[in-house]
Amino acid sequence: MPVVLSVIGQKGGVGKSTLARAISVVATQGDLRVRLVDLDIGQQTSVRWSTTRASMRAKHPVDAQAFSSVRDALAQAEDFDLVVVDTPGHLSPETFEVARASDLIILPTGTSSDDLHPVTLLLYELEQIGIPKDRLFVALCRILDPKEERWARHYLDTTGFEALEGSLPERLGYRRAHNRGKSVTETNELALNERANQLMASVLKRVLRHVRRANGVYSSR
Ligand SMILES: Nc1ncnc2c1ncn2[C@@H]1O[C@H](COP(=O)(O)OP(=O)(O)OP(=O)(O)O)[C@@H](O)[C@H]1O
Ligand SMILES: [Mg+2]
Repeated sequence: MPVVLSVIGQKGGVGKSTLARAISVVATQGDLRVRLVDLDIGQQTSVRWSTTRASMRAKHPVDAQAFSSVRDALAQAEDFDLVVVDTPGHLSPETFEVARASDLIILPTGTSSDDLHPVTLLLYELEQIGIPKDRLFVALCRILDPKEERWARHYLDTTGFEALEGSLPERLGYRRAHNRGKSVTETNELALNERANQLMASVLKRVLRHVRRANGVYSSR
């Protein structure tokens, strides 16, 4: 069975599809067989992006498919090492099905209290339905101010949920990359790529731990 990583949240535009696409790219570059599942049937951001990526003949094409349920998606995923699930920007019973089916769950959020409050409530809700805390990770995205990021990390510390190392600043270069079928790790600006790669490295480290476990290779790291 593949490792399942989902990106969820109840707010639109926080960076779910951004992270789902970037994780898919770095895992593909790391020679994992990756499927990007787009559960946002209405927008299909990730599917459209992968079509653009293919038309631009990117070195590492990403296999993205739209599905109306995680169950259908996983029924067709046995040939993959990693399934990355991109979800719509609202909560539904399907969101909780996705969470139950996931080995790792990433919740992107901005750093204002308006963003952190709902994400914290969702984390508690996920914990209440039985999702182990060590599967839940917050990714700080669209950062405008380093001070606010520090404050957000402190806030999350007090909740006991884990914020991933690294973060994504708000930059035009990231949007431009998406328009060209690239991920936030593949912009035209080295500094932006490095910043995105730091966040992706912290995700990939956790993904690889699960992949090794799924393949029966145990590691203490
Ligand atoms: N760090 C960033 N800097 C600049 N633009 C960004 C950044 N992150 C995301 N964007 C842009 O913001 C828009 C929304 O991002 P994204 O599609 O990742 O959000 P989402 O959470 O998937 O939204 P939805 O809930 O509508 O699916 C996109 O145009 C994306 O390119
Ligand atoms: Mg999206």
